[in-house]
Amino acid sequence: MATGIAGFGLGLRTDHYRDFVDAPDQPVDWLEIISENYLVPGGKPLDFLDRIRADHPMVMHGVSLSIGSCDALDLDYLRALKGLAERVEPGWISDHLCWTGVDHANLHDLLPLPYTEQAIRHLVPRVAQVQEVLGRPLVLENVSSYVSYAADEMSEWEFIAELVRRSGCQLLLDVNNVYVSARNHGFDPRTFIRAVPAEAVVQIHLAGHEDHGDLVIDTHDHPIRDEVFDLYAFTLSTIGMRPTMIERDDRIPPLATLLAELDRVRAVAGAALADEQVTACA
Ligand SMILES: [Fe+2]
Repeated sequence: MATGIAGFGLGLRTDHYRDFVDAPDQPVDWLEIISENYLVPGGKPLDFLDRIRADHPMVMHGVSLSIGSCDALDLDYLRALKGLAERVEPGWISDHLCWTGVDHANLHDLLPLPYTEQAIRHLVPRVAQVQEVLGRPLVLENVSSYVSYAADEMSEWEFIAELVRRSGCQLLLDVNNVYVSARNHGFDPRTFIRAVPAEAVVQIHLAGHEDHGDLVIDTHDHPIRDEVFDLYAFTLSTIGMRPTMIERDDRIPPLATLLAELDRVRAVAGAALADEQVTACA
């Protein structure tokens, strides 16, 4: 399905609304919106959204689906999401492969799932239910994590591959999250990247993190670090080009600063894909 989403994007943040409205030709190929910011009818956010959407293709990214929770899925939320999608006509709709609460308590965090057969059996019908309501494939993002479960029966990448195979979901591959989790849990991030079902990956996230040595925290408040750029280059040389964007959620700099960082993303991608062609021809 043609989505109109290709190349390099940014997460749309309120700090930059005016930049996009005043200069609709900003050098960005597409934008990702946080769905929850636009679910209340009327008001300024939707007004800005409509004006910016007129000039930029968009994808929708949510944070409150809680696909892994044992609570029933929130059908009102899903219907609101579908209504927003009819307005935005996004390339796709994503959320996180996580749970954010249980017993209707929201823990306001993207918590990892136990990597078990039981969890996969729990997820598959829930993904089907979401896809049924939205009328499109659900795109799920790997989260960064700081804990693991004694009950784990497989690696995170085996869990993701099996979930994709059995549910038909697609993937948003957050390369920074892979790096953060790899450091915190002591695995090789390249093992994760090699094992991810490439055909299911529709989008890549890049972001900055805090490195405290024995603990790496996914903060989204720094520029992308060199080691994540290296892993991004490895990712593209492994799975090929995918629409890629920078997530910045705190200490948000002027748009020009993020656009300069996006130029570096473009350059790294160009070099990685050129290397791939050289390797393919050798
Ligand atoms: Fe992300």
